Amino acid sequence: MIIAPSVLTADLADLGNACSEAVEAGLNWLHLDVMDGNFVPNLTFGPPVIAKLRKALGDTPTFDAHLMITNAEDCFQQYIDAGCNHISVHVEAVTHLHRCVTAIREAGATAGVTLNPGTPIEAALEVLTEIDLVLIMSVNPGFGGQSFIPTVEAKIRRLKDAIDAQVAAGGRPVQIQIDGGVKSHNIAMLRDWGVSNCVVGSGLFNDNASVSDNLAVIHKALE
Ligand code: DX5
Ligand code: ZN
Repeated sequence: MIIAPSVLTADLADLGNACSEAVEAGLNWLHLDVMDGNFVPNLTFGPPVIAKLRKALGDTPTFDAHLMITNAEDCFQQYIDAGCNHISVHVEAVTHLHRCVTAIREAGATAGVTLNPGTPIEAALEVLTEIDLVLIMSVNPGFGGQSFIPTVEAKIRRLKDAIDAQVAAGGRPVQIQIDGGVKSHNIAMLRDWGVSNCVVGSGLFNDNASVSDNLAVIHKALE
């Protein structure tokens, strides 16, 4: 199980240190929540900040850009140039999804498609042979610290069946990533559903404990 820290609820005035704290705790996959104030009602950071993070953290961590923006088709290259290894775009925001994910892979990154809680799985299934990851939102995107929406279970199970069938036929394995409200109390259940990559924000970055102490509790829940 990959744990992908999301720094939204960290001290954003000290973003570099928040990311370093996660890397030093042993987390090598950083989930970067990019918001444009248009696709979602919030703004975070973009390519210049990500490029600085890449410089500060070195080459090792995988930078996973979750693009909550309306123009991902036009500007994903800027995120790859800034040092992102993986790009996830929202199916609700991209007109030519097949072209977009193919172009992301041709540009040298891995590609993911993201589904809001109210979006059916079909759009992801249509491009399953072309992608590396499906990101299932278990909150409505825009903010950290929201409650997990349990009705995503059926969608995840259908997706898992489709991926298993694709792999059994000799096709590409695809990660199932989940994002929103993932905590130590529900992470083992998500693994049982077939999730292999969990974004954790407020479950890691909070005022109760350090990232490494919170991570230890999560690892214990997965034993
Ligand atoms: C929501 C973001 C998530 C979120 C995760 O728009 O994509 O990555 O901040 O934070 P928690 O774990 O607090 O729900
Ligand atoms: Zn996210």
